[in-house]
Amino acid sequence: MTQNYYWRLNKRPEGDDVAGALSLETEAMPEIADGQILVKSAYLSMDAGTRMWMTEREDGYQPPLELGTKMVGLVLGYIVRSRHADFAEGDLVRGFGQWARYSVIEPELAGLVKVDGGISDIKQHFGVLGFNGWTALWGIQETAGVKAGDNVLVSAAAGATGVLACQIAKILGANVYGLAGGPDKCRWLENDLGLTRAIDYKNDDIAQELAKVDGGINAYFDNVGGPILDAVLPNMALYGRIALCGLLAQYSGDGRGQGPVNFDQILMKRLRVEGFFSPDFMDQGERLSVQLKDWLEQGLIDTPFDVTEGIENVLSAYDKLFSGGNIGKVLVKL
Ligand SMILES: NC(=O)c1ccc[n+]([C@@H]2O[C@H](COP(=O)([O-])OP(=O)(O)OC[C@H]3O[C@@H](n4cnc5c(N)ncnc54)[C@H](OP(=O)(O)O)[C@@H]3O)[C@@H](O)[C@H]2O)c1
Repeated sequence: MTQNYYWRLNKRPEGDDVAGALSLETEAMPEIADGQILVKSAYLSMDAGTRMWMTEREDGYQPPLELGTKMVGLVLGYIVRSRHADFAEGDLVRGFGQWARYSVIEPELAGLVKVDGGISDIKQHFGVLGFNGWTALWGIQETAGVKAGDNVLVSAAAGATGVLACQIAKILGANVYGLAGGPDKCRWLENDLGLTRAIDYKNDDIAQELAKVDGGINAYFDNVGGPILDAVLPNMALYGRIALCGLLAQYSGDGRGQGPVNFDQILMKRLRVEGFFSPDFMDQGERLSVQLKDWLEQGLIDTPFDVTEGIENVLSAYDKLFSGGNIGKVLVKL
């Protein structure tokens, strides 16, 4: 292989038109400098939060990507060339690279880690053992402080992060409620994942359905924000906790949504609302992975994967995150 293929961000996407903002480009195989490695992607991780980096906003948790540069994303792949003392050719690694067949990576800037290539399915490094697993565990256990008997609600419950948050809350002994789009996803959440109840936010009246939850919602793992958060707030239990994981409902706009109309409920119900962000607890990754691996090996937790093949199909895979076309983790296999 003498050529590299990569996706370039050409302009800021307007609304949902991500395809109009990116193009698939070719280049000669990139050279690496001292301290860098070249990684051949096995899988690219599709993550909804990356949509924010395409926008202009300066006050997000990452600076916006520069126009005309390669689109950045999480990569799982093998090192094919190394000029870094800690990484060798053949190592399987995961970290921030590019939406490309080959990524040039500076490990210290990319949160790059070597991962075990000997496990039965390396995709789990983007599943239970990946950032979504860490995020779900942190959000449920540390931020929301879920305990046995709690009523826990998860939005985007059938997505990569949500599906793990639901299972972790169940392992901890909670009654788990999920919000997802469409009857098929809701049936899957109840029948396959064993949720107490899944509510179809596209067809049901969320507030009305949540009002039936005896004792109210003790902990809400929120992946979406927006109008769904407004429907949830009056249905929180006294002293409830909201772990704010993501704001999917707002990523395609300019990043600013209207604040919750029911903000007053935070006082009335004495709620605690806390945002959390996975890079902040990367140093805890090993500890989180030990717990997650143990549950994985016991068969208590799993990630369903939605795999699309080919670098040319990245955008159709990415679109699923916003149109709801996925159950579980969306990956592109190269
Ligand atoms: N804080 C952190 O460190 C951290 C780390 C990782 C991810 N996250 C956040 O976690 C959330 C999930 O991300 P993911 O990458 O795991 O994606 P994902 O959950 O696999 O996919 C997104 C799902 O969200 C649902 N959705 C999309 N737009 C929606 C909307 N406007 N309202 C309600 N539901 C909507 C869709 O399912 P339906 O069919 O149900 O609509 C879609 O399948 C994102 O907000 C992301 O930013 C945060």
